[in-house]
Amino acid sequence: MKSKFMTVCLFGMTMFLFACTDNSVPKTQEPEHSPVVNEEEPVRIGFSMDTLLEERWLKDRELFKEAVENLGAEVEIVAANGDDALQISQAETLIQSGIDLLVIVPHNAAATAAIVHKAHLAGIQVIAYDRLVKNAEVDMYISFDNEQVGKMQAEAMTALVPKGNYVFIGGAITDNNAHLLKKGVFKVLQPFIESGDIHVVYDQWTKDWTPANAQANMEQAIRNSNGQIDAVIAANDATAGGAIQALQNHGLISQIPVAGQDADLAGVQRIVVGTQTMTVYKPIQILSNKVAEIAVSMAKGEIVKADQQINNGKKEVPSVLLPPIAVDLANLESTVIKDGFHAAEDIYGTVTK
Ligand code: GAL
Repeated sequence: MKSKFMTVCLFGMTMFLFACTDNSVPKTQEPEHSPVVNEEEPVRIGFSMDTLLEERWLKDRELFKEAVENLGAEVEIVAANGDDALQISQAETLIQSGIDLLVIVPHNAAATAAIVHKAHLAGIQVIAYDRLVKNAEVDMYISFDNEQVGKMQAEAMTALVPKGNYVFIGGAITDNNAHLLKKGVFKVLQPFIESGDIHVVYDQWTKDWTPANAQANMEQAIRNSNGQIDAVIAANDATAGGAIQALQNHGLISQIPVAGQDADLAGVQRIVVGTQTMTVYKPIQILSNKVAEIAVSMAKGEIVKADQQINNGKKEVPSVLLPPIAVDLANLESTVIKDGFHAAEDIYGTVTK
């Protein structure tokens, strides 16, 4: 009897312990964030953007809106123009308005973690668009391979200038993409630096990616190096434009190769007239379609698998990274123009020196 009683007690104890350690029990502070789907209603996607003060993001807004609506869903778009507090309150309003899923382009990779937490408490999943949110339970990240962007820039520059003084005009320190791009650039430059062939005479982040801040950086680089500069890598075409303005002010324009990113209209026009050497084209049509497709599926409660994982400091985020394309005068027609990213007449028609 005693031994039977002991067995029963032991069995009871084990069951109790098992119940305590069973991970399937949802943690009280983290609600199950699977959307409650109402088949009647079209799903509603919220799109919280950092800024619309740049050519690229105006395109993202139009293309994403079109892609979501083509899938029979609705989209509500807000932009905070670089204001972190505004981006957080705009996202809160979207969450309270009952969206089914939130897509976000963070201005500040760290500050926007709060938005992800608030969305999950409301049972809403979050997709990071182009830029990763750091230290948060992001459900999906979709972008281009930003490290590859940096590699392509540095490969183009070192092919032209294997020896000399380099200036690196970085992106915004608040943007995870700027860090990935820089990592790619210096991965390629490192052996040249170690061999002593290349000296990086200036390396600075550019607040909010603005041309004005980039121009100020370049002015400083010219002063620091007495104008002894052989190549410039700027994190995007907007910052390249600022740097080139500074070079022009010092009579150095067209003599120094400059790399950019985004294939902005002004950037490809400069490639045509020779004041910029190359840019990295990222077909935004493909990105916005991919995000719309995945967002609408997830908003309908479908499980979407991703072929990559990116660690954002909190978790391995399921990710989709699309290939960027290096563009210079030689392949402008077969890439940017062929895709209709810019019309030939817009590039060649109004080109100014
Ligand atoms: C980055 C993006 C670039 C560039 C930049 C400035 O995150 O990857 O394409 O546009 O923002 O907005």
